[in-house]
Amino acid sequence: MKIAFLGHGNVGGALAHRMQQIGRDVTVGAGDLQSDSVKKLLARSPALKVALPADAVSRAEIVVLATPFQANIEVLTPLKTALAGKILIDCTNPVGPGLSHGLSSKQSGTEMIQQLLPATRVVKAFSIYGFENFEDSSFPGYGVKPVMMFCGNDQTAKAAVSELLKQLGWEPLDVGGVEQALHLEHMTLLWVRMVRMGGHSPRTVWAVLSR
Ligand SMILES: NC(=O)c1ccc[n+]([C@@H]2O[C@H](COP(=O)([O-])OP(=O)(O)OC[C@H]3O[C@@H](n4cnc5c(N)ncnc54)[C@H](OP(=O)(O)O)[C@@H]3O)[C@@H](O)[C@H]2O)c1
Repeated sequence: MKIAFLGHGNVGGALAHRMQQIGRDVTVGAGDLQSDSVKKLLARSPALKVALPADAVSRAEIVVLATPFQANIEVLTPLKTALAGKILIDCTNPVGPGLSHGLSSKQSGTEMIQQLLPATRVVKAFSIYGFENFEDSSFPGYGVKPVMMFCGNDQTAKAAVSELLKQLGWEPLDVGGVEQALHLEHMTLLWVRMVRMGGHSPRTVWAVLSR
């Protein structure tokens, strides 16, 4: 499945690089094809394709959203028709003042996106850890893979995301429908508070043990 990116900073750049490394066909959407951020991206990953957002989305089956949460409506609204039927992986997190939930825990950011794009199959993934772990998901010596929890309403979309996660070295864990996204967003806040404020290593991830 061809993959497009909207947002190519810390998260989008790391994931686009890794997905291209494992042989996926990746196109990064950018409003300015000559911007400094595109030049930085291509300096690191010269084989990545770059196109205008509408072109990148139209040729992809999976679109990865990795923009600042506040930019989501502006980024997604003009692409609403192009995104119909596609899988949208939402990596974004609404973060409010003092590292609180940016939508006051009344609704998740992912549910907001699913409401904006009812014909798009939205899956929240790559959201609960820092980007350092998207650059390198290996944790040698533990005997378990790091878990990546994901959620969404469409089973076929989640199966495709699960397969992608496995190829990237994660243990995929389907935690349920889109209503679970709020809880994943709180997990993100837990991680951010622990790591960015509390001094834990940015290479801190969770594993799942079940019997
Ligand atoms: N940082 C993390 O460790 C981490 C981990 C998990 C999830 N997240 C979430 O992932 C998202 C991206 O975080 P990040 O750290 O990758 O951010 P970032 O490094 O600032 O990158 C943001 C990207 O979005 C683009 N962008 C910004 N405003 C835009 C707009 N109005 N229209 C179109 N594109 C726009 C930027 O393009 P230009 O550079 O050209 O402006 C850049 O490519 C956020 O929602 C964040 O909460 C972050």
